[in-house]
Amino acid sequence: MEVIAIDGPAGSGKSTVARAIAVRLGREYLDTGAMYRSVAFAALRRGVDPTDDEPVGRVARDVEMEVRGDGSVVVDGVDATIEIRGPEVTRAVSLVAANPAVRTELRARQREWAKARGGGVIEGRDIGTVVFPDAALKVYLDARPEVRAARRSNEVRELSYETVATDLARRDALDQGRADSPLATADDAFVVDTSEMGVEAIVDTVLAELERRR
Ligand code: DC
Repeated sequence: MEVIAIDGPAGSGKSTVARAIAVRLGREYLDTGAMYRSVAFAALRRGVDPTDDEPVGRVARDVEMEVRGDGSVVVDGVDATIEIRGPEVTRAVSLVAANPAVRTELRARQREWAKARGGGVIEGRDIGTVVFPDAALKVYLDARPEVRAARRSNEVRELSYETVATDLARRDALDQGRADSPLATADDAFVVDTSEMGVEAIVDTVLAELERRR
């Protein structure tokens, strides 16, 4: 099994880079952020308060989700592709992701996903540190906060740059400060600051490192 783990904060270029690497390697791609977003979506849809740990844990255990490589997501039979990226889910997701019962369930689903495919390219916050400590390559992508906010701001045009930057800083703090598998750099991670780099250059750098480690 060969797992390529790609971790980092929002706006670091993870999704774009992980997708491109999967294409170049002919492997499948899993966006684990979309899985946490799907649990948040399902909880909101069922009227469960995202701060209510036990019921949210139950939602994580019995929700049916299909997170596809093309970015589309089906949650309990409903197409949630657009809504999981919306402001409501984005506000709730850090709380849901700090819930240990949710993390236990999603970790198990992520390991099953990889096992069924003999590995793949998996992006998230704790993939190299916690979920796949034996990954063939652990990449940690980062970028300066203002660069990350500008990238996110370009994706969500209905919100102002200030709103996006504030929300990003809030989520960074929550993701790095939570007790259960916080966003962190693995000791043996390949760290890339993408602030001044284009997608092709990042992909080439990561693939060169993979070759070196293989
Ligand atoms: O990458 P994203 O913005 O779609 O991730 C959504 C949220 O999920 C983010 O606030 C952190 C959380 N997350 C996590 O805790 N662990 C992961 N492996 C992936 C995402």
